[in-house]
Amino acid sequence: VAAAKKQKSLSDLFEDGVKDIYYAEKRIVKTLPKMAKAATDDALRAGLQKHLKETEGHIARLEKVFGLMGKTARGKTCPAIDGIIEEGGEVLDEFNGSPAIDAGLAASAQAVEHYEIARYRTLASWAHALGMGEAAALLEQTLDEEIAADEALVTMSQQGITERALDKAA
Ligand SMILES: [Fe+2]
Repeated sequence: VAAAKKQKSLSDLFEDGVKDIYYAEKRIVKTLPKMAKAATDDALRAGLQKHLKETEGHIARLEKVFGLMGKTARGKTCPAIDGIIEEGGEVLDEFNGSPAIDAGLAASAQAVEHYEIARYRTLASWAHALGMGEAAALLEQTLDEEIAADEALVTMSQQGITERALDKAA
């Protein structure tokens, strides 16, 4: 009798998810400097630079999570973040020099944050279910920073980025 293929479990899903977000964070860390450079709004540029520093910390936390799983840190191609970053790149190309560039950058950054928030929230909940409290705590710390980054983008948009895009274009 051939050995039955081992059933995949929640811990396999969790490991795949950690690899996916690790790949995503590594792409984000390379993309944020380009976005910050293109920003003309000082607060937006500072916000993107601050989040770059935080993202380096997110990568370090994920490496700790891999360690807690007894695995080597390794990414798995994430077509979702590739697509979000590709779209962000199009905004950069097409709106560079436009008064709407900051509004476009803030929107791209929000799409990235929302993807990350979705992933980290799920992974933290799975870590709890799997009895991995320490991993859950690390994932929740990052989740909180992603939520704060998203909220900062909302505030910046409300405090002028969107309006200035309108004014200068008029
Ligand atoms: Fe992150």
